Amino acid sequence: MFIRVVCCLFLGWFLAACQSGTQDTSPKSGEGLADSTCGPGMQEPKAAPMAAAMRAMADQAEAMRAWIVSDSSTRPARPAWAKMPFEAQRPTDTTVLVEEFFEKAKAYHEAHRLVGQQPTAQNFDALVARCIACHQSHCPGPLKRINRLMIGS
Ligand code: HEC
Repeated sequence: MFIRVVCCLFLGWFLAACQSGTQDTSPKSGEGLADSTCGPGMQEPKAAPMAAAMRAMADQAEAMRAWIVSDSSTRPARPAWAKMPFEAQRPTDTTVLVEEFFEKAKAYHEAHRLVGQQPTAQNFDALVARCIACHQSHCPGPLKRINRLMIGS
């Protein structure tokens, strides 16, 4: 019984923390929600920190894509797309942490910076190409989902 109460309290606190966290960062429309690291992945305690970061990155990329393809005359101000230093997180499988992986991470961050500065479809597709380049060699599982992000500019 005691354990159950503690679990409920913890869960309540966790959900409240997630909600207040997203409220702080989300602009009027709620668009920024997917930008938050309090994504669905974070609610599964078993995911390795890098996997959780990746889920947040995938959510962010989806939000980014939606903003870029939306009507520029009616869309809200561009949300801040936070950099995610995922390569510093512990992965499920530590054998991915080879030099080539860090080089690909660097190329990803460079593309992320560029699309943040100039949010065009071309720059977004270049970012997705960086996701794909790393996933082809280090984690092919989510490639289908990642491929779907391409705007096709
Ligand atoms: C430099 C390499 C690299 C880049 C760049 C990269 N990923 Fe990943 N990604 C990985 C690795 C490695 C994993 C496995 C992480 C783990 O399980 O700890 C992963 C896991 C994932 C997952 C599965 C997470 C889960 O639920 O287990 C998704 C989805 C994902 N990446 C999407 C993306 C998207 C979208 C981008 C680009 C916006 C991206 N990744 C960029 C290496 C990369």
